[in-house]
Amino acid sequence: MNRSDAVLGFQQTFGRAPTVVTRAPGRVNLIGEHTDYNDGFVMPAAIGFATWTAMGPLADVDSRRLLRVFAGNKSEQVEIDLDHPGPPLQRHWSDYVRGIAVELERDGHRLAPGNAWFAGDVPDGAGVSSSAALEMSVGLALLTHSGIAVDPVKLALAGQRAEHHFAGTKCGIMDEFISSNGRAGHALLLDCRSLEFRLLPIPDSLRLVICDTGVKHELAGGEYNARRAQCEEGVEFLRTYVPGIRALRDVSPAQFAHSCGGLSDVVRRRCRHVVSEIARVADFADALESRDLARLGPLMHASHVSLRDDYEVSCEELDTLVELAGNAPGTVGARMTGGGFGGCTVNLVEASKTAAFQAVIEAGYAQATGHRPRVFVTEAAAGASVA
Ligand code: GLA
Repeated sequence: MNRSDAVLGFQQTFGRAPTVVTRAPGRVNLIGEHTDYNDGFVMPAAIGFATWTAMGPLADVDSRRLLRVFAGNKSEQVEIDLDHPGPPLQRHWSDYVRGIAVELERDGHRLAPGNAWFAGDVPDGAGVSSSAALEMSVGLALLTHSGIAVDPVKLALAGQRAEHHFAGTKCGIMDEFISSNGRAGHALLLDCRSLEFRLLPIPDSLRLVICDTGVKHELAGGEYNARRAQCEEGVEFLRTYVPGIRALRDVSPAQFAHSCGGLSDVVRRRCRHVVSEIARVADFADALESRDLARLGPLMHASHVSLRDDYEVSCEELDTLVELAGNAPGTVGARMTGGGFGGCTVNLVEASKTAAFQAVIEAGYAQATGHRPRVFVTEAAAGASVA
């Protein structure tokens, strides 16, 4: 998918050329899982799959402030009246479009009516943030089309609110933030409390390989919110030992080891994951910056084990993919990525060995599960941009 596809799609739908074209990528998280909503650190990278949006003025005269939005992948059109945008939680792709438009207006922007066409190649339902890519691409198009200057951080925050209010997912800030702020060739180390970030180059010799289990276990949404609640329960308890803490981010591994005795087994393990994962992100950043690639794999593996055993968000299919990667050619590191309960693993793989890596994963996974996994070889891409 590229700019010409978006221009052509818009033209075929609306009979004239667009005036604005944008793209925004999906993401993969290298390390720092389930830490964003604990005010912790994450290290995602934007990937080479994106959602493209083309926009232009309405062709007809209409007294309403109308967005006419065509989803190219689904060949489906909706109309959104910006003054009466309709209810949230319709369980439809238009929730994300309605959501980002409404949240941008809540930020004080007055959006211009228009026609919009979008489509993309971010794998759907695979846990690589196709929804964040959609929100960021459409959001950037709406602002640009309306002549409004774009603040990529505020755009990401509006996208996160769109998820909360219009899609019903109480996600953290990671997905929208990396989709709007990513840099080609770099991972982004984000402090999810201050939103300060640092871009860390990924060595040219490595590729990001994303392996999709092809499964999404039904309990994902409910379990996600349950994990958040367990973390909050942990903070309430730990506050008596570590006064003044606002989130698990404020507890060091040593403080946690000292004070976790009175927690229930489940909450203790949930908190242990978060506290240890935040420390792993710092180590991983240090290893990446000092080009000490041998340290990356063990940290990614420790992250996976902690997500599997303490946070309990992995599943058999993810564990199988990680295990297969451990014995595949070129693997530097492998772990589950994203919310869990299915979705993808992220693998750092030597560039010269990606084909051999892919072959081993495909054969092994097919043998273990009877299904062929989707394997995507990609590099860190740029965040949302006007194309
Ligand atoms: C989902 C959420 C993110 C983050 C991850 C887990 O992708 O959207 O905010 O919490 O899960 O790290």
